[in-house]
Amino acid sequence: MKPSAVTQETEQKLFFHNYARLPIAVSHGEGSWLFSIDGSRYLDMISGIGVNALGYGDKRLVQAIGDQASKLIHASNLFMMQPQFDLAEKLLSLSGLSKVFFANSGTEAVEASIKIARKWAARSGNLDKKEVLSLSNCFHGRTYGAMSLTAKAKYVDGFEPLLPGTGMIAFNDVTDLERKISDRTAAVFIEVVQGEGGIHMVSQEFISRLRELRDRYGFLIVADEIQAGCGRTGKFLSYMHVDADPDLVCLAKPLGGGLPLSAVLGSEKVADVLAYGNHGTTFGGNPVACAAGLAMIEAIEQDGLMEHAETIGNFLAEGLQRLAGKHPMILEIRQCGLMVGITVDREAKFYVEKALEKHVVVNATSVNVIRLLPPLNITREEAQLCIDALDEIFTEETREKEG
Ligand SMILES: Cc1ncc(COP(=O)(O)O)c(C=O)c1O
Repeated sequence: MKPSAVTQETEQKLFFHNYARLPIAVSHGEGSWLFSIDGSRYLDMISGIGVNALGYGDKRLVQAIGDQASKLIHASNLFMMQPQFDLAEKLLSLSGLSKVFFANSGTEAVEASIKIARKWAARSGNLDKKEVLSLSNCFHGRTYGAMSLTAKAKYVDGFEPLLPGTGMIAFNDVTDLERKISDRTAAVFIEVVQGEGGIHMVSQEFISRLRELRDRYGFLIVADEIQAGCGRTGKFLSYMHVDADPDLVCLAKPLGGGLPLSAVLGSEKVADVLAYGNHGTTFGGNPVACAAGLAMIEAIEQDGLMEHAETIGNFLAEGLQRLAGKHPMILEIRQCGLMVGITVDREAKFYVEKALEKHVVVNATSVNVIRLLPPLNITREEAQLCIDALDEIFTEETREKEG
């Protein structure tokens, strides 16, 4: 069979139209650089939507994947597998939590957490204790449970009815938190740094009050670390910035070193909630993905990438603040480690296209936020290239407006 032409036209013919793909067919990557099939290279400031923590082509990762693939690609959870055990131990030692469940994607980790929370709450004997709450402007995924927590028109319109017993607390609004929490609350999901929502950090005041209310009403705090976890914010888990003390933690994106892998970590409180057959997945904890994940975390530790993420994140934010001082179309810069949001006064996708013309890949989220999630090992020079490209784009826009 003749290979299909990798063009936007063919893409429209072959696939459901649920992705707005960039007009580039990629062939390979090196470090922070992505190459298209026509040989052009692009500075990748979104790293596979926060997945490629080590950039492209890290030799340790490739070696770990090759070694494990040559031994065993899949066996299923009918068996015990060394790579799962090694990654589980690593995650528990880094988090101080007690138990691990491996799945394949972020949304599956969220689904598993909703199930664990409801089953845990059912033990209280309170038949009404089923409510699972999230924070406004959040993103937890696109399957029914996760989508019900995400409840933004863009994600849910036409898909109702949603999961019953879900609701939302206004982000960082302590009064609304106090109003919504009750004996019926089974769990509250938080992203300490909201990613898709445009890089917003939950306040220490909100977290402290959430913890006090948990002591009073007995519910679980679930930290969705799918985007902010694994070192991106300068700490292994972003909740460590605010001491959220979660009962459940969801991890995905970089966890499998680029292969599909997610995890739920649970505290002692929920350690024996799941019984045999309550939950499971055929592929979850795939040994190649686990071996890659362990290699990825070890590389982050060996190379000091959490400290680097903090330093380069601050460097990026300072450079962007300088741009904000001279370009009025930049409304705000928000940053935590290497999660960076630039709020602009028009749809951010305009700048995504302009940046692509300069061979820099950035991303638009929350309508008017340019989001940067570069690899954790991005160099200072590469970060400066991105700042310079954006500077040129804003300067050219002003020039065009002035005619
Ligand atoms: C915070 C957060 N939670 C959940 C998800 C869903 O993860 P996945 O796309 O792997 O299902 C995402 C994906 O962007 C995310 O950023």
